[in-house]
Amino acid sequence: MNLTLKVWRQKNAKAKGALETYKLNDVSEHSSFLEMLDMLNEQLINEGNEPVAFDHDCREGICGMCSLYINGEAHGPDRAVTTCQLHMRMFKDGDTIYIEPWRAKALPVIKDLIVDRSALERIQHAGGYISVNTSGNTQDANAIPIRKSDADKAMDAASCIGCGACVATCKNSSAMLFVAAKVSQFSYLPQGQVERKERVLNMVHQMDKEGFGNCTNTGACEVECPKGISLEFIARMNREYFGASIVAEN
Ligand code: SF4
Ligand code: FES
Repeated sequence: MNLTLKVWRQKNAKAKGALETYKLNDVSEHSSFLEMLDMLNEQLINEGNEPVAFDHDCREGICGMCSLYINGEAHGPDRAVTTCQLHMRMFKDGDTIYIEPWRAKALPVIKDLIVDRSALERIQHAGGYISVNTSGNTQDANAIPIRKSDADKAMDAASCIGCGACVATCKNSSAMLFVAAKVSQFSYLPQGQVERKERVLNMVHQMDKEGFGNCTNTGACEVECPKGISLEFIARMNREYFGASIVAEN
């Protein structure tokens, strides 16, 4: 395939960015989107130009590092895949592809296509942990009975990879789907009960402090989430939050 790429270039966090146009030829439909960007960077380096900075690590849909807005969609036109799992067969010869970073105040651009996602990590630090009794009486996790339906829900929530696509795609730049997944993965399990109330209060507080917007139930996050995290987790987190707030006030 021969492609025209419109790529967001921005020197640093303070610089004003702009879309630059590049021609890239002979791209295999079997290559991944990131391999296509590797080709572009090879071309740019051979021409003596600076390569495009973009985030990636595992390249198999696990780490959540690859975060691109492709033709106006978080992680591109395919469903339930990350950018690194997106294949060039989703595009056709002669296409023009727009490639931009996540756009959200709480996830500022560092350079080109890379954004600073430490706000999501600070939310995790505010409550994404459990207390374990390590005084010699530690219970074997396999000896704690958990209903299958609860274990399944906890696993569904835990499949969130923290990529931030939910924030990027939300018109309010809300991080509710991410936070709801992180709260729920613990609250469904007995091991998560010790800090259950303070976890939801602290994580939501940190989310607000970081400047993420509010949820207005438009559901774009659920559609673009590469892991299919359900909006139901947001409803569950809201219930938990209200419950915990009442206890905290009394
Ligand atoms: S909820 Fe989905 S879109 Fe949001 S951070 Fe987790 S995996 Fe990414
Ligand atoms: S590079 Fe790890 S999820 Fe895409």
